[in-house]
Formats: sequence, C-alpha cells, structure tokens
Amino acid sequence: MAAASAAPADVASAAPQAAAAATATAVITEPVPEVPVSTGPRSGIPVWMMPVLLALPFWAVVYMGAFAAPKAAAGPRTGAQIYVAAGCGACHGATGGGGVGPKLAGGEAKLTFPNEADHVAWVTEGSAASKGKSYGDPNRPGGARPPASGGMPSFKGQLTPEEILAVVQYERDRL
Ligand code: HEC
Repeated sequence: MAAASAAPADVASAAPQAAAAATATAVITEPVPEVPVSTGPRSGIPVWMMPVLLALPFWAVVYMGAFAAPKAAAGPRTGAQIYVAAGCGACHGATGGGGVGPKLAGGEAKLTFPNEADHVAWVTEGSAASKGKSYGDPNRPGGARPPASGGMPSFKGQLTPEEILAVVQYERDRL
C-alpha cells in the first residue's frame, strides 16, 4: 500500500505503468510460502479418547468373561438349592416348618414316607392323584396323613430324577 501510493510522486508521469509493474514484480519475485499457523499444542489422540482408553481393560475383562462357562450350570445343584429354586420352600416354609403344605422338617417327611421310593414318587407325581384321599404311612405317629387337597404340583418335567432324589434326601435327612 505504501509503495503503491508513493509511486506516482516518485516517477511522476514518465512511466507510471512500468514503475507499477516493477513494484509489482519486486513484490512477486520472492513469494513467501504460506506457513500454516499453529493454533496450539497438537496431539494425535482426541481428549475423549482418554476415558475410552481407561475403560478398555475393564471392557476386555467383561468381554472375556462372557465366554467363560456359566458357573451355576457347571455342577449339579444341591438338595438345599433345589428346595429353594423349585419353590418347595414357598409352600412348605423356607426351613420346612410348614405353610400351605405340611411341615417337612425334623424328619416329618420321613415319617410319612418311610420308604424313600414313595417319597420320590410323591414329589414326581404331586398330590393331584391323591386328592381327597389320605396318604402316607398309616402307622406313622398321628396316623395316616389327612386327605390331600391336591395342591402339591408334579415336578416330573421341572426337575430331573437326580434333582428330585437330591431334594428328597435333603428333606429326609437335613431339613
Ligand atoms: C404349591 C404348593 C406346593 C409346592 C410348591 C410344593 N408342595 Fe409339597 N405339598 C403341598 C401340599 C398342599 C401338600 C399336602 C398334600 C395335599 O394337600 O395335596 C404337600 C405335601 C408334601 C409332602 C408330604 C408331606 C407330609 O408329611 O404329608 C412332601 C414330602 C412334599 N410335599 C414335598 C415337596 C417338595 C420336595 C417340593 C418341591 C420340589 C414341594 N413339596 C413343593 C404343596 C406344595
């Protein structure tokens, strides 16, 4: 701008166009390449990547855990676990003290079914077939059990024979 405004005064009317051209040439001869201006410290990693990177090991552990064999299904369930899971406790009490269904604890179930096979058959079939009929050992203390209401469900499809045996043994000896 200063060169352009000074040009007419210096060179007068001799060759204003040549002077202008010379001035323009002088400016153009050494063009300064435009260097990109730095706007601050540069990093290849965006800020939001930091929490992502921190979470990565935890995700890896969870991800690998998804492929591990399920622990609960690995071993057979114990009689006590089946008693809870199958809902026996809901009707007979968590500790077998009785409820909708009669008391099983303290060897009561064993008195009704002295023979383990009868006990297994009872749990397998439920009480529907015995509805209105008295059941169990007639010689047990207190006599045979009063007529069944039919409210005891069959566990045939719900529990495997092994599971029924396990829960029966739990009721007989540990409840
Ligand atoms: C929906 C309630 C209910 C559930 C669940 C239930 N029972 Fe029963 N159970 C009864 C009823 C009621 C009777 C008594 C017979 C009747 O009235 O039909 C009974 C009777 C029994 C008896 C005979 C006890 C006696 O001395 O008279 C045994 C043993 C027994 N149940 C075991 C089990 C087992 C083992 C389970 C779980 C696998 C179970 N019950 C789940 C309701 C239930």
